[in-house]
Amino acid sequence: MKVGVLYSRVRVEEKLLVQALEARGVDYDLIDVRKVIFDLQARDRWSQYDVFLERCVSHSRALSALQILESWGVPTVNTAHVARVCGDKLNTSLALMAASVPTPQVTITLTPESALEAIEAMGYPVVLKPAVGSWGRLLAKVNDREAAEAILEHKATLGSYHHAIFYVQQYIDKPDRDLRTFVVGQETICGITRHSDHWITNTARGGTAENCPITPEIHRLSLVAAQAVGGGVVAVDLLETPGGDLLVNEVNYTMEFRNSIEPTGVDIPARIVDYVLQVGEGRSEQESQSWRLELTL
Ligand SMILES: Nc1ncnc2c1ncn2[C@@H]1O[C@H](COP(=O)(O)OP(=O)(O)O)[C@@H](O)[C@H]1O
Ligand SMILES: [Mg+2]
Repeated sequence: MKVGVLYSRVRVEEKLLVQALEARGVDYDLIDVRKVIFDLQARDRWSQYDVFLERCVSHSRALSALQILESWGVPTVNTAHVARVCGDKLNTSLALMAASVPTPQVTITLTPESALEAIEAMGYPVVLKPAVGSWGRLLAKVNDREAAEAILEHKATLGSYHHAIFYVQQYIDKPDRDLRTFVVGQETICGITRHSDHWITNTARGGTAENCPITPEIHRLSLVAAQAVGGGVVAVDLLETPGGDLLVNEVNYTMEFRNSIEPTGVDIPARIVDYVLQVGEGRSEQESQSWRLELTL
């Protein structure tokens, strides 16, 4: 078994994953995607690998690399499909809604003028998000029309290509926390609640993590959400409504987990590596087929 680990920056997560590979005595290569030259005529160079674990920081790099490797028939964790769906919040919302997963209301517009109309129709507050992004960056909670006009003007004037699509989401008046669960294959291996005084609770922005026991309801919702985006190794963000219902906000496909190991007591990198090895051995596909039949909302 030989594992290729695709990365662009070695974060704490990648170090922990490498330690888990070494603990299992698995042969692996660390492959810096910033240096790789994918010669589309020379796929044999890659045939030494049984499976790739993708851990790139950048979504566009990850997706391109995954598409190439997958087209050459090498299994990857996650699949290019999962990256395509999870890396773009519009695709994620479409996939969640297609699978009837409860999720906040979303409106998409393609010009700032239509965005203002959509925001007014949804009612304040709303959340404006770049379709591609993470760590809570460039999220805006829009409380009134004046703020909406200002943010839309900024996006139109200063924004890059990613800001040309307006992703308008209903604001969920959640408690001072949200939930994140980790799904590996068919199992919700653990979860955390992320507390923050700020409405953006990402631990990358100072939110603090506590263990969240996985109830049957949380497990089911996490699994259905993971399944909706294509399965594999994902982190599911859940928001609690004032009425106590859970909504799936987004699903992350190359998630960070450094702050979740200690509170949950679950060796997340070990679980990821075990799954990668299963995929490399060709065992996971059959399992996921039988699992698919059992899961309906
Ligand atoms: N519609 C919303 N209502 C309430 N809180 C939200 C909403 N959208 C995002 N948040 C908060 O902001 C955080 C980051 O949003 P998210 O959509 O996960 O973006 P990112 O991909 O940058 O993590 C969420 O974990 C949640 O705490
Ligand atoms: Mg998030």
